[in-house]
Amino acid sequence: MASSWKVLVTTRAVIDTGDAALQLLRDSGCEIVPAPELGPHSPKALIPLLDGADAVLADLDQYTAEVLRSPSARQLKIISRWGVGYDAIDIAAATQAGVVVAFTPGLLDETVADFAFALILGAARQIHHGHMIMRDGDWRKSWASDVHHKTLGIIGCGRIGQAVARRAAGFNMRVIGFDPFPRPSASLEYLPLEEVLQQSDFVSLHAAAKPENRHLINAERLRLLKPSAFLINTARGTLIDEAALIETLQDGRIAGAALDVFTVEPLPKEHPLRNTPRLLLTPHQASYTVEAGNTVSWAAAKAIVDLKNGLRPEAVVNPDVFQSSALRRPLSS
Ligand code: GLV
Repeated sequence: MASSWKVLVTTRAVIDTGDAALQLLRDSGCEIVPAPELGPHSPKALIPLLDGADAVLADLDQYTAEVLRSPSARQLKIISRWGVGYDAIDIAAATQAGVVVAFTPGLLDETVADFAFALILGAARQIHHGHMIMRDGDWRKSWASDVHHKTLGIIGCGRIGQAVARRAAGFNMRVIGFDPFPRPSASLEYLPLEEVLQQSDFVSLHAAAKPENRHLINAERLRLLKPSAFLINTARGTLIDEAALIETLQDGRIAGAALDVFTVEPLPKEHPLRNTPRLLLTPHQASYTVEAGNTVSWAAAKAIVDLKNGLRPEAVVNPDVFQSSALRRPLSS
């Protein structure tokens, strides 16, 4: 067996649900080093953790160019993202440094779509309010909003957006969507972004966190929403101008919102979003089910084992890296 690799684990998901994945790594000659504090890590926190690491099973840690070029990352050969989003990784810098970036697309679509739908239902039917009222020993009912037969607007109609659209069919919803690169879909009707915002009773965000999507939902676009509308975000916090959303909710200009993702994560304790009315909050847990945890942990670990064995991992964000002379673990053939 080739020499041992040190695998840094920064994601809680693997520690909690990835027994089989961790065993696969051990059986393949890897030493597993869980980070003393699990991620997501800032560049400053990440640099010392990378010392001597050959691979990382990565949370949404910030792999900036500074991190990737730091002497402590000189042995790093692969960042294997537990999940789909790689917006926290400077892909160009990783490619230049010869570091492979692997991810696990397609394994979380249905799981995240379930959660987005749970937030739609939870926000509309005020389930969180009912729970808090019961917890307080009280018995008061909230007037809520129907979901069935309403209009759902999907912003970003990739795999997850389409999976949410399919669920809406069971609720007899009209589903409209916006995507700059629309692909044929039997589950929704494509419209311009402004029309989706104007016509929807529920707007669910599933766009990628590209620079051009920063504050896609800004103050001006929030003003297009109906007063009865709900905004749901299980994609990335940066898609929404959070200050503008807080103002919108405080003024009661929309019925409510549900957020699983935030510009800064973990969401600081004193962040104003924590005290904003009409808002349902969860701690970026849309992909956290035991079943998905097992599957994704295994796939993320397998990518590391494949590269260690000189094989190309199945899903790589920066395939150009294999053509680079800087590649730190050349393929066998
Ligand atoms: C989670 O948000 C992911 O990108 O996998």
